[in-house]
Amino acid sequence: MATKVAADTCDLAAIDPADYHYFTEQTWPAMFARLRAEDPVHYCTEGLFAPYWSVTRYKDIVHVEALPDIYSSSWEYGGITVLDALDQELKFPMFIAMDRPQHSAERRVVAPAFTPSEMQRLAGPIRARTAALLEGLPVGETFDWVDRVSIELTTQMLAILFDFPWEDRRLLTKWSDWAGDVQAAADPAMREERTRILYEMGAYFHGLWQARLNAPPAPDLLSMMIHSEALSKMDEQEFIGNLVLLIVGGNDTTRNSMTGLVRVMNEFPAEWEKLKADRSLIPNAVSELIRWQTPLAHMRRTAKEDTELGGKTIHKGDKVVMWYISANRDTEVFENPNRVDFSRENARRHLSFGYGIHRCVGARLAELQLAILLEEMLARGMDVEAVAQPQRVPSPFIHGYKEQMVQIAKS
Ligand code: HEM
Repeated sequence: MATKVAADTCDLAAIDPADYHYFTEQTWPAMFARLRAEDPVHYCTEGLFAPYWSVTRYKDIVHVEALPDIYSSSWEYGGITVLDALDQELKFPMFIAMDRPQHSAERRVVAPAFTPSEMQRLAGPIRARTAALLEGLPVGETFDWVDRVSIELTTQMLAILFDFPWEDRRLLTKWSDWAGDVQAAADPAMREERTRILYEMGAYFHGLWQARLNAPPAPDLLSMMIHSEALSKMDEQEFIGNLVLLIVGGNDTTRNSMTGLVRVMNEFPAEWEKLKADRSLIPNAVSELIRWQTPLAHMRRTAKEDTELGGKTIHKGDKVVMWYISANRDTEVFENPNRVDFSRENARRHLSFGYGIHRCVGARLAELQLAILLEEMLARGMDVEAVAQPQRVPSPFIHGYKEQMVQIAKS
């Protein structure tokens, strides 16, 4: 089924940006360009997730993010995605979906796992695993980059971070896919299966928690959480919620950036050549890749009081969706935004990690993993050719890929 409306010619009021077809068909750039120009704070009254506001300009999103006491993230008001958390039977309380002061207290516990010195500690094992994986890839044969590289490297990275049982690491992928699937959660036919799988995840984490509770403290994140004063006071549901958050937060996002890299190599080959010639561009290339891909298309807030935004009145209780994917294409901030430019001067200003008190706590780890991947690919002179169009995730939240068939060129 194609999108119900052609966004460039239809009535503005008919545009429902959370219709996933904009993302599977990649028609979102034109749709958001029109909204930014003609109706930057847009109200949608019909569609699976309606009613909700869409905030599409960079500066308006920064404004919303800077007022967390007005625009709530709390799951008690509806949570952080266009899907209403209130409608879901299964709730894992997690600090991404909390407001101050509880948010600050819980974030403080996990933040030390992502300091520059911790990143240095993790860089060794991440590099070793990345190198081994790249060495094992077939040359001159067709294979799925999503499965063999993006999923595998991301789950390995998270397993290292948590010291998660290595042989079970693919469960992290399965759980994170289902947890982040807002489309399935909104569909009565799929909701039951999703709930069953999320219970399975809860039970596994319960076992992990029990096993670690009596073990001596270790440097991995799970142990750090168990032995922290703030988190040890939490009930089990909340502890598991935060674990789920870290695993889901780090999973699809990093994975889809890695597949985005293959898209960039194929759609903007001159940029890959630029990187080959000048490796000092790698840190900026990582930011530009994350800007261009925008692995999470949006985050949502709920107004706790009547307020004004871009000349519109937002009422208490209204759902406000911040489209990062649109902000990252805002020509007021990024010149020629649909283009990848590894030497773009302000690539780091992207909003893919959000902004303000909820800005991604794992950003440094994601950047580290991506930088290592680029370094190790360049060190091997690896050119990856996409041999088919990618299959995209049908979602207005996870902006990513289910499959990308590739071949590594023979050197
Ligand atoms: C928060 C994106 C990687 C863990 C966020 C938010 C975004 C985001 C947009 C902000 C949520 C909001 O404002 O409501 C990304 C992207 C990534 C990435 C694009 C990769 C390219 C990771 C990794 C981890 C992680 C690797 C951990 C292993 C978290 C956590 C939060 C968060 C725990 C909640 C922060 C808070 O509420 O204070 N992420 N993320 N993320 N992310 Fe990431």
